[in-house]
Amino acid sequence: MDQARAPYFDALQHYLQQKNLTFHVPGHQHGKSLPLELATLLREFGAACDITEVLGMDDIHNPHCQVQEAQELAAQAFGASRTQFLVGGSTVGNQAMFLANLGPEDLVLLPPNCHRSVYSALLLCGARAQPFLTDFDEVLLTFRPPTPAQVKKALESYPQARAVFLTTPTYHGLCAEVEEIVALNRSRGVLTLVDEAWGAHLAFHSELPISAVAAGADMVCQSTHKLLPGLTQTAMLHYDPRSICSQRVEQVLRSLQTSSPSSLLVASLDCARRMMVLRGEELLSEVLRLARRAREVLSESAGINCLVPETSHDPTRLILDTLRHGYIGHSLAESLRYRHSVQVEMSEVHQVLLLVTLGHSSQDLEWLLEALRKFPAREPPLNKRDLAQICHWEHFAEVPRCTVREAFFSEKRTVNLENAVDQTSAELLYCYPPGVPVVIPGQRLSQQTIDYIKAQKRLGGSIQGGADADLRTIRVVSQHKNDR
Ligand SMILES: Cc1ncc(COP(=O)(O)O)c(C=O)c1O
Repeated sequence: MDQARAPYFDALQHYLQQKNLTFHVPGHQHGKSLPLELATLLREFGAACDITEVLGMDDIHNPHCQVQEAQELAAQAFGASRTQFLVGGSTVGNQAMFLANLGPEDLVLLPPNCHRSVYSALLLCGARAQPFLTDFDEVLLTFRPPTPAQVKKALESYPQARAVFLTTPTYHGLCAEVEEIVALNRSRGVLTLVDEAWGAHLAFHSELPISAVAAGADMVCQSTHKLLPGLTQTAMLHYDPRSICSQRVEQVLRSLQTSSPSSLLVASLDCARRMMVLRGEELLSEVLRLARRAREVLSESAGINCLVPETSHDPTRLILDTLRHGYIGHSLAESLRYRHSVQVEMSEVHQVLLLVTLGHSSQDLEWLLEALRKFPAREPPLNKRDLAQICHWEHFAEVPRCTVREAFFSEKRTVNLENAVDQTSAELLYCYPPGVPVVIPGQRLSQQTIDYIKAQKRLGGSIQGGADADLRTIRVVSQHKNDR
């Protein structure tokens, strides 16, 4: 191999030189909405900003001065009793929420739209997960978060549950009625743990759905880098020490996070909080205006329309209905990127998702709309059978045959995907993005799951997580302790 090469560096340099217009994370969009003082610091000191805890600089693992104050300010700003800064994204936030509250004897109720980090959290803590089905959104073709009635039913079926886990907003921006769900859980002594990776901005504008922190959830993680102007990997964990043991949270975070947290990331959390408290309402009003205007313009033209969910949602997403316009979402996303220099957040077979954030201007939205006008309407590229195969996953609510941890440590064998029906998956397979599972370790592989995987492959979707990247084969459990 040629050791003079640095392929990743070269690709990054090339990408930056292309000057793409981005509608994806991080929310600061190539630094455009980075807090001014942070941008100035970076310009002035460059790579010298890249330090970790040194004498005079506080440490997130042992906060006693600047980090302590910054976290207290953040707690007040987000309406939390206690806040911890994270440098490993909501991925580490989800892992910490599980490990701080659940052990191998515990049961947690899980709706179907959880991020893959939740399954690594289950592997770490060993808890048993009971999936329960929620409504399928026929507009976006994705699961909605659970309704209070669905949570109530799940709690009645599994009264031994220690916690209910929610993802709200979902990747597609769908929001749960968190206040009611918290009240239900609390009346039964059940914890409400919330992945609010996509909701760090909610607390700062009155037109946005209520944040899970304000709704009283026991513990909430938020990615500051997604929809607020934090640097990539920044996130926060908010919790109520009346129901969550703070010493355990601190111990867990010391175990999960790097012992050399980047000072730049920590400073960026501090600045993002300050910016939102001082100017959040004004900045988000502009984001909402831009997103609303883009939707209006698209609906008035004969071009690609936006899908608008009928239930509570975050309106800062633009979700393009590509299929009705005649395009598979993945191919439209590729054309936008390679022919029009527009990088979207995510594509699926039937739609494309773009984020409008603090880093966007009217000119950016004009550029996007101009690019979208270049796609003439065509015949829909899918038949009903294809569409049906990528829609429904009723198998998700099946009781897993063993825990994620049992599946991980079990003896395994490799079988052809075609022959895997009724086997127990040892793998976590997920569409990426959005990172939501198709099958989890410990779950039965149904014919429907296998058809789903094949349909996604045929339609250009990316299913990841398996040992065989082409998914001709799959690893299954050959023996596990808890055959249920
Ligand atoms: C719902 C959800 N939760 C958690 C995560 C992980 O967040 P992070 O990238 O901050 O680790 C993601 C990432 O996309 C996500 O979509």
